[in-house]
Amino acid sequence: MKHKDTQLDPNKLRSYIDLVGYKESPILKELRDETSGLGDISIMQIGAAQGALIKMICTLGGFTKCIEIGVFTGYSSICIAEGMAKNGKLFALDKSKEFTHIAEKYWDRLKLNDKIELLLGNAKDTLDNFISSNLENTFDFVFIDADKSNYLDYYEKSLKLIRSGGIIIIDNTIWKGKVLDENDNSSSTKSIKLLNNFIAKDERVDHCLISIYDGMTLCIKK
Ligand SMILES: C[S@@+](CC[C@H](N)C(=O)[O-])C[C@H]1O[C@@H](n2cnc3c(N)ncnc32)[C@H](O)[C@@H]1O
Repeated sequence: MKHKDTQLDPNKLRSYIDLVGYKESPILKELRDETSGLGDISIMQIGAAQGALIKMICTLGGFTKCIEIGVFTGYSSICIAEGMAKNGKLFALDKSKEFTHIAEKYWDRLKLNDKIELLLGNAKDTLDNFISSNLENTFDFVFIDADKSNYLDYYEKSLKLIRSGGIIIIDNTIWKGKVLDENDNSSSTKSIKLLNNFIAKDERVDHCLISIYDGMTLCIKK
């Protein structure tokens, strides 16, 4: 396969994209700053360009029924909810009261409370509840961004829940480049490699892994 090599300085490229690549609202900027104050874990938050892309996809799809697995302080949930149709509903799944307390504060300020329902608990259980409540094939969109070791399970459950033509987006599929390291056998890396290889052969979806931030895979259910 031919590759077009672009020798770009990644830091310069990142600065350029941050300058002209998207518009970040003052409230999202404030949320990013508050999240930075949490220290190293703030790295869990999606990048602003990713948020802009996710919002755009939700707008283009006119989505009305969405799931987010992994809310943290709420950045991506705001992007999804702002992108969805006016009557849209986002079920936001997380196990942390502490992080989602920050998210709720911003949803409140943006008057997104009617659009976002927080479901606290183990995401696997919440997804199983959706499945056992006959909600298979009824969702438009799922964003997967929680504990990496459960990624394959989240993917399978999401695939059951979305309708044909629905979209699953999975974050961190490049995993800081660790997916390229054959000797990295940590459980998170193994899990992401497993999922990437699985999706590559999964005939139930069309997909594309894009190298934005830490990598993001877009899947459309056939
Ligand atoms: C990478 S962060 C999500 C970042 C978020 N999407 C954003 O844009 O800021 C992962 C989140 O998944 C949550 N999480 C981890 N394991 C979970 C589980 N088993 N069930 C539910 N939530 C979980 C964590 O509490 C954390 O808030």
